[in-house]
Amino acid sequence: MRKPRGKSRSTESSTEAKKKWSLFRDIPRVIRDWKKQIMQQMVEANLIHRMQHDQYRKKVIRIYDGHRGALLVRTSQLSGHIRYGDRLFRRRQFDLDGAKNILDIGSGAGQVLSHLLKYSSADARITGIDLSRTMLERARKRLQSNRPRLVVSDLSRLPFPRDTFDCVTCCYVLEHLPDARLGLQEIARVLVPRGRVLLFVTEDNFGGAWTSRFWKCCTHNRESLLDLCQSLDLELKKEFWFTGLHRWFRAGGICVELVKAAPQPATATDFDETSATPATFVPPMPESALSNSGLRVLQSEPVEGETSVSTRTRSIVSSN
Ligand SMILES: C[S@@+](CC[C@H](N)C(=O)[O-])C[C@H]1O[C@@H](n2cnc3c(N)ncnc32)[C@H](O)[C@@H]1O
Repeated sequence: MRKPRGKSRSTESSTEAKKKWSLFRDIPRVIRDWKKQIMQQMVEANLIHRMQHDQYRKKVIRIYDGHRGALLVRTSQLSGHIRYGDRLFRRRQFDLDGAKNILDIGSGAGQVLSHLLKYSSADARITGIDLSRTMLERARKRLQSNRPRLVVSDLSRLPFPRDTFDCVTCCYVLEHLPDARLGLQEIARVLVPRGRVLLFVTEDNFGGAWTSRFWKCCTHNRESLLDLCQSLDLELKKEFWFTGLHRWFRAGGICVELVKAAPQPATATDFDETSATPATFVPPMPESALSNSGLRVLQSEPVEGETSVSTRTRSIVSSN
């Protein structure tokens, strides 16, 4: 059978021409992306990758203990983060229904804790952790509630046994770790199977680069971060945008709900008495200091030593 030579040659040449044209067409986009990346790299802080982890951790504590930390609530109000966060819980886009043991990581001035207090069921146990004791003290004062148990601790070495919490919130904290895997592994470890995570992370765009400069954190690429979550059995359930404008400008960072897939086999990073960070409790406020606030104290947490995260944490608390 004779081949339709002429026809195939013309088809080949037209596909080649199309290829060349599409390459040519891509040039402005490539230049634009390249310019963006250079601008981003010029703005983005890379302190986190230039320092030893311990040194960097001390730097983070100094930043949040200082005036920037004192302004955190104001900046969260200005960015709309508190208002949009409240709406997210109120509309049950992230549903706290059924959550009985909730961990808020990097509680800061209690921005997320305030939503948890408002929208979780009254019998839910709420724990907030932060690297900065000063921030937790600010949170306690701002919330005017002794209900959440506040623990000074590090996301990369959480002082809780595996499968402890059915819900974890971790908002704008992961970017303070030089290796996000450390934090996500810890979240996956302390979460029960099918437990849910609300994760907000600074994204690797121009706005994110400025955020990283101000807070000396890093930024994350959406696809790579979600791949990393997936590899740790934290499956993507939902992606959030605070508003349509946020989506349009890709602002507000990577905001997702993740679900822990299934029971994980024991790993080297499993709970270990010797490697976990020392955890200290931030004591509740005296009832007399709360009475003026007009807020109802839903449930007072016992003071240090009476209740602890685990037997091990108790031993750490009493040893401090
Ligand atoms: C930008 S604030 C976020 C506060 C709050 N989660 C929110 O969404 O508004 C980051 C907080 O994470 C804390 N943080 C930073 N690195 C941490 C770590 N490795 N472990 C625990 N907390 C950390 C900081 O001290 C600070 O209070």
